[in-house]
Amino acid sequence: MQYERLVQWARETWESRWPGQATITIWASTECSNKIAQQQMHAGRKLRGKARYDGALPIDCPVIVPISDYGSRGKKMMLTASAGAYVFRFSSEGDDPFEVIYACSYFDDDLQDLTAIAIVPEGKLDTWAAFELMCARAVRPRIKRRRDVYIIGGTDAFFDPTVEWEDVILPESLKNDLADDMDAFFTKGVGIYRQLKLAPFRKLLLAGLPGTGKTMLCAAMAKLAISHGRIVVYVSGSDRDGASFEKIQRALQAVTAARYPVLLIVEEIDAYLQGDDKARVLNVLDGVESPNNPEGALLLATTNYPEVIDERIAKRPGRLDRIFVIPTIQDELHAEQMLRHYMSDQWRDEHLAVLPQLISQPGAFVREAALHARMLAAHENRTEVTLEFLQESVESLLRQINSGNDFLRDRRPIGLVGNNGKSPKKSSRSNPFGFRER
Ligand SMILES: Nc1ncnc2c1ncn2[C@@H]1O[C@H](COP(=O)(O)OP(=O)(O)O)[C@@H](O)[C@H]1O
Ligand SMILES: [Mg+2]
Repeated sequence: MQYERLVQWARETWESRWPGQATITIWASTECSNKIAQQQMHAGRKLRGKARYDGALPIDCPVIVPISDYGSRGKKMMLTASAGAYVFRFSSEGDDPFEVIYACSYFDDDLQDLTAIAIVPEGKLDTWAAFELMCARAVRPRIKRRRDVYIIGGTDAFFDPTVEWEDVILPESLKNDLADDMDAFFTKGVGIYRQLKLAPFRKLLLAGLPGTGKTMLCAAMAKLAISHGRIVVYVSGSDRDGASFEKIQRALQAVTAARYPVLLIVEEIDAYLQGDDKARVLNVLDGVESPNNPEGALLLATTNYPEVIDERIAKRPGRLDRIFVIPTIQDELHAEQMLRHYMSDQWRDEHLAVLPQLISQPGAFVREAALHARMLAAHENRTEVTLEFLQESVESLLRQINSGNDFLRDRRPIGLVGNNGKSPKKSSRSNPFGFRER
């Protein structure tokens, strides 16, 4: 299809309808024949000044084969960009109504690119331009209401940033360090990056055994970020599509397009570093493909398997700015805090006796133990959770984990069992992953 043929047809059509009237021929916007726009633009709609849109009439054009693209909008599939010819009608108070002849087609067989032309009466270009603009807006709606959280890969059920900071039971110094890091980056860091003409992108990793509270900490950080007017982009690999690079790419686009500072959360980043996409993920970490959001983007990534984040990432400067090791329960003080939290109103001082058994366990273990103890008591119609119930609960959980060890030894650890499954290189208790905290 050559545009000359479109123009020629349009002029002839014009002459047959409005002989002798002066017109201009323009390159028009392809959005006017987009089905989304046509669905939304109702006859009677006001344009600029006193002008009004009076509807569209498809007309036969021998040089155009009508055909539409389609795509999803929300959950629905819809027709979108379309080739076709139309007469668009307009009227204006105290003025004669007028028409525009419009034709939109593929310019070239090899390029899937629509081209549109229009014949507009002289002096009516303003009205036509207003119409084009409205069609374009219908096709590409501007974000009217700003959302705080964008979830990529999954639904809102995957991530709920309502966790209170105090409910995350971890060493205070660790929590403060993390919160201060985020705050310093957004308040001071971003300006420094910009002065150095660098994309303000900082990368933090939370590394720790399963169940130590990394996801919880991310949610609490997200809540903190939102309270400071930042946006959260959360990438989940746990939906059907798994950990695909395409998700990271979509997340980076969202980060770049956001007109706000962004906290970008990528859970279990190791999963993205296993397949063929590893090089591309590394490019992102290296800054080759980092998002350029002038308001700043802070990546908070998590991993259960720091050994997958191999030395090239951990040691190469610039790939990760900081690694936070999220520990299991290290001492009785921490154990007591966790146990009191999860026993809540069922807490009795005699429960202190189980503390030694909680050392080296992740927080999720304590939560399970407390829950199970309550269930045991309820099962026996007892209102109080005695030490015996709690002990029985802890021991049965430990037994489960230990028996899991027999057949799970060589499998990737999942959930609580992870503690005794294929464990990462251990060097010291507080830093079981063999790399230095920076
Ligand atoms: N440090 C912690 N403080 C309080 N609760 C915890 C902590 N760690 C784990 N939990 C409990 O265990 C659950 C699972 O923890 P999660 O954050 O999913 O661990 P991870 O992401 O490290 O595998 C949490 O929802 C919470 O109920
Ligand atoms: Mg998690």
